[in-house]
Amino acid sequence: MKLLVTGGAGFIGGNFVHYTVKHRPEYEVTVIDALTYAGNKANLAPVMDKIKFVEGNICDAELMDKLVADTDIVVHFAAESHNDNSLQNPWPFVETNIVGTYTILEAVRKHDKRLHHISTDEVFGDLELDDPNRFNESTPYNPSSPYSATKAGSDHLVRAWVRSFGVQATISNCSNNYGPYQHIEKFIPRQITNVLSEIKPKLYGTGEQVRDWIHVDDHNEAVHLILDKGKMGETYIIGADNDHVNNKQVIEMLLELMGKPKDWYDHVNDRPGHDMRYAMDSSKLRTELGWKPRYTDNNGMHEGLQATIDWYSQNRPWWQQQKAEVETKYAKQGQ
Ligand code: NAD
Ligand code: TYD
Repeated sequence: MKLLVTGGAGFIGGNFVHYTVKHRPEYEVTVIDALTYAGNKANLAPVMDKIKFVEGNICDAELMDKLVADTDIVVHFAAESHNDNSLQNPWPFVETNIVGTYTILEAVRKHDKRLHHISTDEVFGDLELDDPNRFNESTPYNPSSPYSATKAGSDHLVRAWVRSFGVQATISNCSNNYGPYQHIEKFIPRQITNVLSEIKPKLYGTGEQVRDWIHVDDHNEAVHLILDKGKMGETYIIGADNDHVNNKQVIEMLLELMGKPKDWYDHVNDRPGHDMRYAMDSSKLRTELGWKPRYTDNNGMHEGLQATIDWYSQNRPWWQQQKAEVETKYAKQGQ
């Protein structure tokens, strides 16, 4: 089986490649990645001798045509992925998330290849803090930010190519991931590397917002199950039932695990249009495909966070050079 992994030098795609090499050694993996600010070839260093790496852009139709012709399945992670950046400059989001996905769809249509499209819970918009409901596969789309709107657009393109052209595709919408190799602009690694640099964590607004955190390995195990057993044309929600922890509590957990006082953090400017609450109902994936996350409850989040703290502590050269630049950018926004 040949897999073409787009965005494999990024956070989730990189962890997916590691997972695949370890658990599915029979797969031939090719990574295509443009190595934007978020992509880092070093993420793949431990497995580089077991995969093929192509530096290139998913919007390059000629390149994608050639790579897709020579694969069995495309697993599509590549995206512009950070909400805050999409509020500063939306264009790269439109280009990569929409035009890039279109380019891949045209290639898989032409060569009759299977696609698995990776997406996010943010396409559904947000829930009120006191709303006990969770998003499921039939929740209407209602994205808030340029990031989530372009991801919603890409999901719609995939669905249209399935229905109109009979493309063999599946989609998964997952909640917020954490784990090793996540760019330090994102919430959890930003706070861990802040503490490791003796900088106070930065909480947007009141910190009441809820994200349904999932460890990246649980996400990638679900993706493999969908590749193995998913039904063509179907969408699967992925979430680990962590929707009871708000941002403030995540910071408090990190501070406790890292031996700092519980209130050792700053309140900074809120994000415009900040989504309040995400919560995912993954019962379809659990009942139909038998998925079960390993990092499930409050305790599970502690275990996953501790492992993530350990990784950032032990891999300082991976993030230290970027730290000042990332913090300068945030400081300009009062964040
Ligand atoms: P990331 O920003 O860490 O990685 C994205 C990767 O894509 C980088 O390696 C980058 O170089 C590459 N890339 C960007 N534009 C490209 C282009 N035009 N051509 C080729 N490569 C390009 O992102 P991530 O957090 O790993 O997210 C991966 C996917 O998962 C995205 O589709 C994202 O929407 C989705 N997702 C992320 C989360 C999360 O919590 N991070 C949750 C749910 C879904
Ligand atoms: P983020 O990791 O950017 O993911 P997303 O926007 O996709 O949910 O942010 C997660 C949550 O953390 C979100 O509610 C914004 C908040 N946040 C902070 O409070 N402080 C920070 O420094 C960052 C980056 C995010």
